[in-house]
Amino acid sequence: MALQELLRKWGWYMHIAAETTAIPSGLWDCNSQTLILERLHGRDESHLLSPNADNLAIQRTAGQHATSDQLRRGGEVQLPRRLRNYHQSGAFPGANSPVNNSPQNPPYGLRTERISGSSFTAPRDHNLQTWLYRSNSSLTHSDFVPYDDHSAIDKPRHWTPNGYMWTSLNMSTNNDWTFQKLLGSNGDPAKKQGLAIYLFHVSKDMPEHNAFSSLDGDMLIIPQAGALDIQTELGNLLVRQNEIAVIPRGIRHRVTLPAGSTRGYICEVYQGHFRLPDLGVIGSTGLANARDFQIPTAAYSGKLSTTSQTLIPDTADWRTISRLNSRLWTCTQTHTPFDVAAWHGTSYPYKYDLARFCALGNVRFDEHDPSLFTVLTVPSNAARGTAVVDFAVIGPRWQVGEETLWIPYYHRNTMSEFYGPIVHAQDKSRPFNGGKEFRPFACGLNGLMATHGASEAEYARAQEIDTEKPMKQMQDRISIFLLETELPLMLTDWALEGSNMNPKSKVHKAKM
Ligand SMILES: [Fe+2]
Repeated sequence: MALQELLRKWGWYMHIAAETTAIPSGLWDCNSQTLILERLHGRDESHLLSPNADNLAIQRTAGQHATSDQLRRGGEVQLPRRLRNYHQSGAFPGANSPVNNSPQNPPYGLRTERISGSSFTAPRDHNLQTWLYRSNSSLTHSDFVPYDDHSAIDKPRHWTPNGYMWTSLNMSTNNDWTFQKLLGSNGDPAKKQGLAIYLFHVSKDMPEHNAFSSLDGDMLIIPQAGALDIQTELGNLLVRQNEIAVIPRGIRHRVTLPAGSTRGYICEVYQGHFRLPDLGVIGSTGLANARDFQIPTAAYSGKLSTTSQTLIPDTADWRTISRLNSRLWTCTQTHTPFDVAAWHGTSYPYKYDLARFCALGNVRFDEHDPSLFTVLTVPSNAARGTAVVDFAVIGPRWQVGEETLWIPYYHRNTMSEFYGPIVHAQDKSRPFNGGKEFRPFACGLNGLMATHGASEAEYARAQEIDTEKPMKQMQDRISIFLLETELPLMLTDWALEGSNMNPKSKVHKAKM
């Protein structure tokens, strides 16, 4: 029931039940706000709040990163927090230059390299620059050559007045992270305008000595179910269901699967960067708090020569696969891209646990706008308050509005709303929705001015609710994410062919 209420909020009822993939016991299981709070307040928080727990866990898994001793000797074992702060991290003592950014002779035989996430002259609050101290400059590599068949790339070209939903999307699973399927987009990465939405369903690790990056834009990764072990140039992030991660444009990373098959969504922004929304009259805290964003610590792939005090990176023939203008390219190099011994700056990957989102809402009457659930936003260059995309999450919370219809108002929106469920728990003994009808990639799109809202039956039920009795919402182990963009989303052939149009009134297969 709660699921139906949830999905009504964004347009349509969808049948969702549990897929068979299981997350290891204890990794993640929260089916109510109470459990979420218990976990956050210390009863089961070891994997989240212990200093550097993520890094240590990943070291055990991958076995190719700096040891915990090395990290401790670096004196920076605390997992940094606070989004957009200036951070620094070193895997070895003194690897970070203490004063000058580009020293003549960096320690350990390191080279200095800089990554600019913004123009040099961007306002200070938007300036994203990071210095890396690594064994090999990323200058040395072969020329990039096409990696995929460009003629086979599915191009977004369908834009209709209809809304769409997908009870599932037909997607092969025998893929690694480099296989990301384009659902829709608008804009042009060549002009640094717009955004794209990809889906992934990966069942195997990226091959050893393979790395990926997107040159098209920052990637917001939203696992729907499962977990991703992301080794990045700046350190490691273990991203589980009900967590999100952001990988900045161009940052090389390798993804493995600590819990088997994993699926989810990627929002790639061709322009701007994700940031916390301004809070206005809410005040200084609430929604997603800056302190809860976790930033990786430097993790060096290699070893320290005690005789020469030189860092020796792992050697192998590496392949980098990069996305540019929605096309994949590849190059090779003879050294690991994960040879960064230290870094400092303002541009870095990060992750966020959606269970930490402090939802706010009405305490008297009316249904407020879903912008109140915004986690991250990418402001646009258009009118003030508009966004290339807002990422929002609608999770467990209390409904308390008196004399209010507890379902969303009927809505036509100049913004496009793409939404889908995020699974909190995958305990096989308690399958979501009774184990019925879950199909991966249930999601929907309320396009520009496409009306969405409740059915007559749902509307009638909502009219009978006793609104003087508060009700806990969203306790069925899923949340809904929302990507709300100022741009119409144009769909690919694949997306259109897998969709149902206007399912609220009459389900029929899209044929265009
Ligand atoms: Fe809406």
